[in-house]
Amino acid sequence: MKKQLTVAMPKGRIFVEAVELLKKAGYNLPPEFDESRKLILNIEQAGMRFILAKPVDVPTYVEHGAADVGIAGKDVLLEENRDIYEVLDLKISECYLAVAGLPDAKKRVARKVATKYPRIASNYFREQGEQVEIVKLNGSIELAPLIGLADRIVDIVSTGRTLKENGLVEFEKMMPITSRLIVNPASYRLKDQLIDEMVNKLSVVIEGGQSE
Ligand code: PRP
Repeated sequence: MKKQLTVAMPKGRIFVEAVELLKKAGYNLPPEFDESRKLILNIEQAGMRFILAKPVDVPTYVEHGAADVGIAGKDVLLEENRDIYEVLDLKISECYLAVAGLPDAKKRVARKVATKYPRIASNYFREQGEQVEIVKLNGSIELAPLIGLADRIVDIVSTGRTLKENGLVEFEKMMPITSRLIVNPASYRLKDQLIDEMVNKLSVVIEGGQSE
C-alpha cells in the first residue's frame, strides 16, 4: 500500500501563508481547502492528509505521531519544547517576540509579566537576573497592562498595530520568529522518502526558485 503523509496545519493566521507555500511547492490543493470547516482533508492524488489544529497543539499531534509532519511557529516550539525534529525554516509568518508595556513602566523594575509564553518569559527574565511573577493568559495579552494585571507583557509583535492602538510601547526585542516544518522522529525513519521530498519541494520555493 502506498504510504500516506499526515500533515498538521495550524488554523488561523499562519494557515493562509502555509497553504500558499504548499501550492507554490507543487501541492495540488483544491480551492475548498481554504474555506472548508472540515478538520481532516484528504488529498488523495498527493498522497497526503491534512489535519487542521490549533497552532499551539500542532507540536503535540506531531510528537505523538498523530501527524507525521506539521507547521508550527518558533514561538510555539520554544514554549512547548516537544520531542520533535525541526527540519526547515519556512520563512513565513515573520514576526518577533518582545517585552512591552505602558511607557511609564519602563523606568520601573519589572514585577508581573502577562504572556501566552510562560516558559519563554520566565527563561528570559531569569537570564536577565530579574525576578518576576508570570501570569499566563491565552490571548488579548495587551489588555493586561491597561487594566493593571501586569506591568510587562511578553508577546508576538507583527505589524505593531496592537501595541500602538493600545498605547503600549516595546521595551526590548527578544527574538525573531518564523514558522518551521517539524517532523515526528519515528515518521522520519519510516517515511523518509516522502518527508525528504516535501522538504526538497518546499526548500526550492523558500530559496526563491520554482518547484517542477
Ligand atoms: C497576536 C499577538 C498580538 C498581535 C500582534 O495576537 O498576540 O496580540 O497578534 O500583531 P500586530 O503586531 O500585527 O498587531 P492574535 O491576533 O493572534 O490574537 P490573541 O490576542 O488572541 O493572541
